[in-house]
Amino acid sequence: MTMASQTFSSGLHGVCIAGMGGSAIAGQMAKTLLAQKAQVPLITWRDYNLPRCVTKDWAVISVSYSGNTEETLSGFETAKKVGSTLFVVTTGGAILEQSKDLPVALLPKGIQPRAALPAIFSIVLPIVEALIGVGSTDFSELSVTLEGVVKRWGDEIMSPRDLAERISSFVPLFLGSGHLISVAYRAKCQINENAKAVAFSAELPEANHNEVEASHMYQKYGIVPIFLRSTHESKRMSARFEATDAVYRQSDCAPVHIRLNGLSELEETLAITHYLDMLSVDAADIRGVDSVRVDKIAELKRRLTEGS
Ligand code: F6R
Repeated sequence: MTMASQTFSSGLHGVCIAGMGGSAIAGQMAKTLLAQKAQVPLITWRDYNLPRCVTKDWAVISVSYSGNTEETLSGFETAKKVGSTLFVVTTGGAILEQSKDLPVALLPKGIQPRAALPAIFSIVLPIVEALIGVGSTDFSELSVTLEGVVKRWGDEIMSPRDLAERISSFVPLFLGSGHLISVAYRAKCQINENAKAVAFSAELPEANHNEVEASHMYQKYGIVPIFLRSTHESKRMSARFEATDAVYRQSDCAPVHIRLNGLSELEETLAITHYLDMLSVDAADIRGVDSVRVDKIAELKRRLTEGS
């Protein structure tokens, strides 16, 4: 039986996708894409334990590339204790050792967790789709579309390299709405981890109720807002982006708008993520840093292991 064929037509009270950093982003994308279609809560969890509402009637998907991330292991143990239906996505480690008799999807070894996003997403999305009873995505068709989109870079949209050069002495602030909120957050993390540079992310409409008040400081701190636009955004959301653009421009801060036409929400999510991932790798190259190594994350984990 495949992991995704373990469906619940009824009796499922919610789905929780737990994981940290690069292992968490696929769950966040699945949530922002599917939350409005799901008849049960779809939550993501990036912390120790699990929320109390997660009971035996919930499904928990524990994602840890290494299988040794302590926060994820803690949530995994909690899910076991309360008797939730567990799915595990990993390459090995302690989580695999403790997953006898559980459905486990093994990821390819030897890459950075954040680079495993396509593999993790292609496992997590079908599980969630099956659990909440919506049609499953055809990934083979999707990959053809995405390959075609790359050919449009440098034409319909400036190439990631050109954008990386344009913003090289600035701090990007990625702003998304709806399903592109997770993409904005992914972009911020990719600039942090790949380019070892400061970046922020925010979401609309929320940023209109707080961050906008600080936009007169953006020029001073070299912040360049990058608006992730969706062809599926509502008229009100488009009006919000345009109004936000106008307010930022009053402070001599010109946002960059990223938009790719003719794609579904899922295709937009993946195509803009791919574009911004390349931006982060180009930014690393321009800064002369190794985009793969994450020494500080490794050091933090080491200090916590040695201290425990
Ligand atoms: C490193 C990376 C990190 C890890 C995170 C959790 O490339 O992306 O954000 O994903 O430290 O570790 P794992 O994924 O092994 O559970």
